[in-house]
Amino acid sequence: MKYTYITTPIYYASGTPHLGHAYSTILADCYNRYYKLRGYRSRLTTGTDEYGLKIERAAQKNNCEPQKFVDDLAEKFIETWGKLGIAYDDFIRTTEPRHRQVAQEIWKRMEENGDIYLGHYEGLYCVDCEQYYPESELLEGKLCPIHNRTVDFMREETYFFRMSKYYDRLLGHIEQHPEFIYPETRRNEVLGFLKHNPLQDLSISRTSFRWGIQVPGNESHIMYVWIDALTNYISNLGGFDSELFNQYWGNTIHIIGKDILKFHAIYWPCILMSAGVSLPKSLIVHGWWTISSKKISKSDPATKIDPTMLAEDITPDALKYYLLKELTVGRDGDLDYQNLISSINSGLANNLGNLVNRTIQMIFKYFDGRIEVQGIGTIDQLDIEIREQAFLTRQIVEKSMNENSPSAAINAIMIFSNHLNAYLEKTAPWQLAKQDDHKKRMAEIFLHIVEAIRWITQLGSPFFPSISRGITSQMNFDEVLQWPEDFSLRSINVNKAHVLFDRITKEKEDELIAKWQNPKL
Ligand code: ME8
Ligand code: MG
Repeated sequence: MKYTYITTPIYYASGTPHLGHAYSTILADCYNRYYKLRGYRSRLTTGTDEYGLKIERAAQKNNCEPQKFVDDLAEKFIETWGKLGIAYDDFIRTTEPRHRQVAQEIWKRMEENGDIYLGHYEGLYCVDCEQYYPESELLEGKLCPIHNRTVDFMREETYFFRMSKYYDRLLGHIEQHPEFIYPETRRNEVLGFLKHNPLQDLSISRTSFRWGIQVPGNESHIMYVWIDALTNYISNLGGFDSELFNQYWGNTIHIIGKDILKFHAIYWPCILMSAGVSLPKSLIVHGWWTISSKKISKSDPATKIDPTMLAEDITPDALKYYLLKELTVGRDGDLDYQNLISSINSGLANNLGNLVNRTIQMIFKYFDGRIEVQGIGTIDQLDIEIREQAFLTRQIVEKSMNENSPSAAINAIMIFSNHLNAYLEKTAPWQLAKQDDHKKRMAEIFLHIVEAIRWITQLGSPFFPSISRGITSQMNFDEVLQWPEDFSLRSINVNKAHVLFDRITKEKEDELIAKWQNPKL
């Protein structure tokens, strides 16, 4: 059996989910569905990051006990993933005992390996990043380079992790495993950083606040939240000795945004080496969604687009389709509402939806909904092309996913759907229907189209799962979604046509955009 383990970042339980969080989760869900389609046992996990000063302060600001505060927010994330149809296998909350136990165990492993010592730290700290910054990395006016906010001076007794010890091994690993960090630009960024900055030891405990996991053996310290948070990827499997860990860990793919690259490409591998655990297979590092060129983020309310609102207005699948198709994983993408609507109208309504709808309607009109395969008939050049395009599309989808480009995979599927619409125009079954003796040829045309739609349904299922399910039930395809293997004509017995995706009219578009631009309307 082949295994894959796909993870999303665990999101801070300090604010409600926004479109940026939804993107990472949708991308991870797409990979998970893709690997399942390919016959892997694939596991998808997500969760919430609930400890640290940032959360404690956010709770205070809301006049709330931290535990109650994170309980409510974790609920919001769970609800959001439900509404978006994310098929995750586990959701971890770092305040759960099952997580605390594993976080403390990783600490003990690092300590037993001689990698933890007590000392003092002072410096400039960004609460939003939960990390100290050397002055050289701050922006003018001593602002955090990620959050553009003032950093705080802090001095505390702290445990250090001897990260410097792992410099050579880390560098060697990244150099020898090009697949470890995708895309290459991010890999080069990490290599460049490492070559210019020899690794320093990392401060990994805090005494200035209490909201966190206690350091084993010294209760006056709590663990630095990033040590705790990164360990979710192991507690999510049930810990170091669990069966799931043994099966899945070697095939781990972490999906993250570029903002948390350093933690995953530098800190995490060093922590794992210290704990005596093998490294994940890959990090897939995606860019940021922006709106009017500003990063979508919690700290900027004007950008905090609610993904459930969009999903309710246009359907979850249309949102997935747009996000996966429009963002090249390695780059940033600007969310443009007009572009969103024209993209889903043309892809899902005019192209794919129309293809399925008119095919079913004609099968009813000319064949009462049923067509039996009857021996070999005409072999038309156009039919041969359809078959070849099916295989070509499958090949592009596979290659694109290997190259971490879901966007290219979707494009190939949509091009195939377009070809099928053109095939219908060229073969014009409605013309044949007017002539005698053409029933057999007409049947062949529909058998080809339906088989090709079956391929689209299966190849497309990682990208628009509910639409695939909709087509499956309208066309009575086998419910089990599989990677299509043979293109062969099969007898058809279709159900009544339902509109797969309602075209958004100009009027509706104006209304939606006005609402999205001013959500309080
Ligand atoms: O960093 N575009 O949590 P977080 C695309 N708890 N993706 C975005 C985005 C945007 N504009 N904004 C956020 C944390 N994201 C830590 C992670 S993991 C062990 C701990 C996504 O709530 C992206 O995946 O700040 C980014 O890395 C993540 O949300 C940060 O979420
Ligand atoms: Mg963040």
